[in-house]
Amino acid sequence: MSEQRHNVSGEDVLKPHEYDGIQEYDNPLPGWWKWSFYVTIVWSGVYVVAIGLGFINDYTMDLQTESVRVDTLVREWEAAHPKPTITEEELAAAVAAPGASEQGGAIFASKCASCHGDKGQGLIGPNLTDKFWIHGGSLKSIHTVIAEGAPDKGMPAWGPLMKPDEVIAAVSWIRSVQGTEPAGAKAPQGEPYEGN
Ligand code: HEC
Repeated sequence: MSEQRHNVSGEDVLKPHEYDGIQEYDNPLPGWWKWSFYVTIVWSGVYVVAIGLGFINDYTMDLQTESVRVDTLVREWEAAHPKPTITEEELAAAVAAPGASEQGGAIFASKCASCHGDKGQGLIGPNLTDKFWIHGGSLKSIHTVIAEGAPDKGMPAWGPLMKPDEVIAAVSWIRSVQGTEPAGAKAPQGEPYEGN
């Protein structure tokens, strides 16, 4: 059995004990490792007490705080960007304005015809020339579905991509092709609209 303990240069040394011929090296953990371990033990105690007393937020509290913060941000954004409210009467006047329908026709050809057909007869999207409407046939309903879309049904929201007067122009053009019965018109979808 060796009587050797630590040697000066810190090399492995054998511990003095021996069991069934098996001996053990004396390899102490580095000081920094031991200390960081002790610090985590102390911290765990502090953490348990602090969370118990509510000095540190747990997950649910953090989530609540963040949800409130996000809700506030959303409300602030909505307050700063009010949705344009336009009445049926204001729309009727804007839609009938000179040039609106022509402007709308150009917009429709470039942005909408790919899905609704060049004459609004319907393709991927519904026929816009008949009196049947999925989202309602009032000017306001048509305006709303163009601005807000029906994203889960494949109709994009155009409000963020078009100027307000362009959306109105598109409504104007759609109104101008009512009852035109273009060739290849898609079968009616939705409910008949009898107004206007
Ligand atoms: C990517 C294809 C696509 C494009 C592009 C598109 N639409 Fe649509 N649109 C649809 C689909 C699909 C629907 C049917 C939504 C539903 O079933 O709820 C629809 C519905 C509509 C409706 C409601 C029809 C109804 O029966 O209530 C209007 C109005 C409309 N689109 C106008 C437009 C205008 C104006 C544009 C161009 C600015 C446009 N769409 C561009 C696919 C499209």
